[in-house]
Amino acid sequence: MKDHLVIFDTTLRDGEQSPGAAMSKEEKLRVARQLERMKVDVIEAGFAAASPGDFEAVRGIAETIRESTVCSLARTGFDDIDRAGEAIKPAARGRIHTFIATSPIHMEKKLRMSPDQVVEAAVAAVKRALTHTEDVEFSAEDAGRSDIDFLCRIFGAVIQAGARTINVPDTVGYSVPEQWGARIRTLIERVPGADKVIWSTHCHNDLGMAVANSLAAVVAGARQVECTMNGLGERAGNASLEEIVMAVRTRSDHFPVQTRIDATQIVPASKLVSQITGYPVQPNKAIVGANAFAHESGIHQDGVLKHRETYEIMRAEDVGWARNKLVLGKLSGRNAFKTRLAELGIVLESEERINQAFARFKELADKKQEIFDEDLHALVSDDAVPPEHERYKLAYLRVCSEIGETPKATLTLIQDGIEQKAEATGSGPVDATFKAIETVAQSQTELLLYSVNAITTGTDAQGEVTVRLARGGRVVNGNGADTDIIIASAKAYLNALNRLHLPEERINPQGGV
Ligand code: KIV
Ligand code: ZN
Repeated sequence: MKDHLVIFDTTLRDGEQSPGAAMSKEEKLRVARQLERMKVDVIEAGFAAASPGDFEAVRGIAETIRESTVCSLARTGFDDIDRAGEAIKPAARGRIHTFIATSPIHMEKKLRMSPDQVVEAAVAAVKRALTHTEDVEFSAEDAGRSDIDFLCRIFGAVIQAGARTINVPDTVGYSVPEQWGARIRTLIERVPGADKVIWSTHCHNDLGMAVANSLAAVVAGARQVECTMNGLGERAGNASLEEIVMAVRTRSDHFPVQTRIDATQIVPASKLVSQITGYPVQPNKAIVGANAFAHESGIHQDGVLKHRETYEIMRAEDVGWARNKLVLGKLSGRNAFKTRLAELGIVLESEERINQAFARFKELADKKQEIFDEDLHALVSDDAVPPEHERYKLAYLRVCSEIGETPKATLTLIQDGIEQKAEATGSGPVDATFKAIETVAQSQTELLLYSVNAITTGTDAQGEVTVRLARGGRVVNGNGADTDIIIASAKAYLNALNRLHLPEERINPQGGV
């Protein structure tokens, strides 16, 4: 029997720290339900003390998820710990993950605390967390650049205080696999009480080695890996869940562990996270990229046709690349619609919202014969901004684009309930549309990203557009989907502008004590 490798997914916490990837409570719940369906062991649902919205999201997930452990991050201050404890209270199994930085540079420059004070704070935090749950995890932030003797000291102390999982993060993605594996092995050998806890690793991808470092840690004895869908996360991201899971499974000859992940849920989870956060998946991304299983060269195609394993080490269907599932069509009724939403983990809270979504579904079904799961996710993502924060709505749009002529957009927006008309020309139809919106909005934002993806295959597919805007240090993503990509672009731009008006009073977990 192989050891169990705990898959700790932090898409909803570390992943959400990516610029513009903030999710609403409802979006987080949809992702959490999909992670549960995928049989993730631990879902880090957020950082409850960051803001009232984060608290509500963690609590909502704790109330909903029954099969996975639900975890909240907390700094070592008792206010943070108690907030996390309160948020995870309704969970079937709840965990508090408390952390403090241990590298000389972080202790001296960021925390302005002595090593003794850091150990004292860590021990006190673990003891406080134990008053809320018996499942307490401790992380030494920036462990990759921390002194090994100091790590042994602080880990020994928190194990004695009752921590069950000890997480060793490479916070800045500085380590290389041999070094990281050796570090984990040394800690397991030297820390008193090491055999009583689960050793965990949490690697960032700044040098592109997050997955390799995590796997080196597993070979050295780590039995929990912290990772995210599509490798989402701060800066260059975290270790990607799909790569860890499939590496361990495909190379079971090499790794002494197994996970309980249902791999057929990987691609749906990847698509959902990409759709909600607006972070596209690169086509050549391992496992979940559109080309991950495509064989272009004639020699490869010939080989695969003759014998699949000539060039394929995994089967596309094993990770969820089934043909798009046709779910609904023009004649589907409200009940079938509602049932499929529920099966996908989409819960619309009021009858009014179901009716509105159903009306949009009918409109879409008029334009597009076959409606797939991805279309339904896009359909409900469209109204992710609560009506009270929806400053702009598109009422009318006409775009003229002709060879040899300058494209022109004419539109009507409803701004704070008042109709505003505008027109503009641009270098292309999308440029003209955005310029026309700006003549009304005058948002003074900077456009950081514009991307279009086909949600499903075929020329009648909906185009899904992501627009990333920045203003005064704040970054937001807006999404829009439509069978007409100019309309999808306008929706995405307005969605981003509306998100800029959502209150944001959250603090960053890694910003201080
Ligand atoms: O990267 C990091 O150090 C973290 C900790 C909070 C675990 O995200
Ligand atoms: Zn991290």
